[in-house]
Amino acid sequence: SRPRIVVTRAIPEPGLDLLRRHAAVWVNPEDRPLTRDELLTQAATAHGVMGLLTDRIDAGFFEAAPLLRGYANYAVGYDNIDVPEATRRGLPVSNTPDVLTLATAELAFGLLLAAARQIVAADAVMRSGNWPGWGPLQFIGTQLTGRTLGIFGPGRIGLALARLSRGFDMPIVACGGRKPNDTLVRELGARYLPFEDFLATADVIAITAPLTPQTRHAFDAAAFARMKPTAILVNTGRGPIIDEAALVTALAHGQIAAAGLDVYEFEPRMAEGLAALKNVVITPHIGSATRTARDGMAVLAAQNLLAMLDGTTPPTCLNPEVLARS
Ligand code: GLV
Ligand code: GLV
Repeated sequence: SRPRIVVTRAIPEPGLDLLRRHAAVWVNPEDRPLTRDELLTQAATAHGVMGLLTDRIDAGFFEAAPLLRGYANYAVGYDNIDVPEATRRGLPVSNTPDVLTLATAELAFGLLLAAARQIVAADAVMRSGNWPGWGPLQFIGTQLTGRTLGIFGPGRIGLALARLSRGFDMPIVACGGRKPNDTLVRELGARYLPFEDFLATADVIAITAPLTPQTRHAFDAAAFARMKPTAILVNTGRGPIIDEAALVTALAHGQIAAAGLDVYEFEPRMAEGLAALKNVVITPHIGSATRTARDGMAVLAAQNLLAMLDGTTPPTCLNPEVLARS
């Protein structure tokens, strides 16, 4: 009989279509994440599960899923998955890199421009009907061209962002990442710096790192104290890389100039006081929210899951060592 696949929240049709050709597919009918109980109940009879960054895929999940042959994350970030635990159990898990790289880099650049030029606050004045007419002192921002762009945790997204910045003639400095990115250095002339020099050198910093024990709260009160008072900070990686309460304090006291955030430490909540600040642009975790990227994620996650059920090689497996074993 056909394998049973559970999709924990509706994803774009191209992915569901692909799954339905090969499996009996149950999709969460509600427009919200499954509760833990609902997730474990569905997992109990699933051969494959496709989940979200809000689903915790850990020992308890695997324990509740005796028939499971693999798990596909509908996200590039996979801090929600206990990968070593999956590997111990011989279960492949996957993510969705590449297909959302440009979408996320473009949003990061958009946040950078919006924060540098106060585009959102300026829009609000127009909508309020209170704009008195042109004024030489209104909404004075930062010119980005020629400023030094700092990329924290450069990988595919950081490299794409660096390429997008070329038209702005921005010298590039970098810090962190799994290994120094040769392309970033050779093609874009990036200089890798130790964290403290990186903080002090960059005019704008874009966080494109995954959440790991090393990156959690990398941007804390001490880091903001090292940054330029004119600095702009953008985060499209994961919220907990920033100590969000400390960021509110830094922004409120002018320790750094502005921020553009797409991710938050405790989603969907924000730190107290953040939304009241004028020097921050805040978007609701929409980095990959383009038709191209979301359809691409859906198809790639489906291809991964179907390969796991077939025992073939998933295109973007996070623990390929389990494949060789079986
Ligand atoms: C979204 O944040 C993702 O990791 O794909
Ligand atoms: C994610 O795709 C990254 O490598 O930055």
